[in-house]
Amino acid sequence: RLPEAYATPLPLPPVKRPSGDLIEIAQRPATVEILPGLKTEMMTYDGVFPGPTLETRRGQAVTVRHTNSLTLPTATHLHGGHTPADSDGWPTDLLLPPGFEQPRPAQPGADHSGHDGGHGGDGGHGGGHEAMHDPKAQVTTGRRDYRYPLEQPATTLWYHDHRMDFTAPQVWRGLAGFHIIRDDEEDALSLPRGEREIPLMIADRAFDEDGALRYPALDPELLGQPGVEDRYMAGVLGDVILVNGAPWPEAEVDAAQYRLRLLNASNARRYALRLRTADGKPVAFTQIGSDGGLLARPVEHDVVTMASGERFDVVVDFRSLAPGTTVELRNDLGTGRTAQVMRFRIARRATDDVRLADRLAKRLADVPEPEKPDGAVVRKWHFRREAVHGRMGWGINGKPFEPAVPQAKVPLDNTEIWEFFTDAHHPVHVHLSPFQVLRRGNRGPGPMDHGWKDTVDVRPYEAVRVRVRFEKYAGRFLIHCHNLEHEDMAMMAGFETV
Ligand code: C2O
Ligand code: CU
Repeated sequence: RLPEAYATPLPLPPVKRPSGDLIEIAQRPATVEILPGLKTEMMTYDGVFPGPTLETRRGQAVTVRHTNSLTLPTATHLHGGHTPADSDGWPTDLLLPPGFEQPRPAQPGADHSGHDGGHGGDGGHGGGHEAMHDPKAQVTTGRRDYRYPLEQPATTLWYHDHRMDFTAPQVWRGLAGFHIIRDDEEDALSLPRGEREIPLMIADRAFDEDGALRYPALDPELLGQPGVEDRYMAGVLGDVILVNGAPWPEAEVDAAQYRLRLLNASNARRYALRLRTADGKPVAFTQIGSDGGLLARPVEHDVVTMASGERFDVVVDFRSLAPGTTVELRNDLGTGRTAQVMRFRIARRATDDVRLADRLAKRLADVPEPEKPDGAVVRKWHFRREAVHGRMGWGINGKPFEPAVPQAKVPLDNTEIWEFFTDAHHPVHVHLSPFQVLRRGNRGPGPMDHGWKDTVDVRPYEAVRVRVRFEKYAGRFLIHCHNLEHEDMAMMAGFETV
């Protein structure tokens, strides 16, 4: 009873720009039609899923004022934002809905019964674990201003919930949206724009017969025990592929070039995306940007592999296709319906931009060559399965996330080498500053590793080495797995920039 593929037009989220320097967002429950004819209750930004696309300009600081009219706490993170610590959406810096009372944790785990004290609105693995107390948590009620200086190059960011222990179910329920930064440098490049620039948020979900979202949370109220049933340890996958909140949609396009801003906003699913026409002709992706901005020069791909949290900015060329042609966006890592993502239908000839490709610059931006600096500090981060407060979970360097205990102090304005080691597939995400991939296993960077990344898809038993430098903002920031179930099951660590 899955909806028919390519029967729903591709929706575009509404665009919101600052008025003065302010953008206001209302977090509220909403009933949304996702599957045709059915109603889905969601947690939303402004009543829509995806949330509104925020459009801002480099260097023009904005305040995004969130009001929480949901029934649960939130913490909003601007993924990829170069953001001061107090606006970064630290998982215990909660925004509570008015009147919300953190329930006293029940005591499910025999190993920590009796520890019901010292628990201040910060959630906690297993409920009531004393070590989870975070004296520095800045909890606000009703409304919260997030200040974004946006001193960073034009790129595709996204904002999403980051609440301690419950990020995965809250993003699953709808708390995610695009945030696009533009700048003059990019404007000068004559990239496809206007209707020919399309953000595509790809996210899988599962539904009950009546349209309700289905998620195997240990506590469906999202107040007690975090995490999911053991058989979902690897992460929660849905059987419905949504693009901008619509199941397997179709976009009507001109026979022209398009800029697609691809975002994998799925909790755990990875995609290997490929474009091909109905008669099997491949259409290539020309990658122009990555998580943190434009590449130095365009890179061609037949397949774009994306893990959760990653963005790829690509140009696709439909100019040689006759009206009526359809082009499927397929997922090589899926089977059956999850191998389908969306479809483009060439509706008409383009009259205007036939010369655009010839103008797609050979040189896009100044990105330094990723070279290993001599004598840099090397920090190692091991992403592994661990016991987390009496249950199976995930940890970093042998420890579950503890908000009050940063795992490292990292000096600002100093280039470091970070190495990520894993036991399974883990998309590793670092807050505050982007990094460049230096090595993957015993080779150089992989085909998807170009440019400035903030999330890197680390494969089982592979070591990925990156170069990173944190600037400007001192405080506590996060490194974590962006498989959101892994994140909630404690695969996250704080580091403090000093
Ligand atoms: Cu997209 Cu720390 O997250
Ligand atoms: Cu992981």
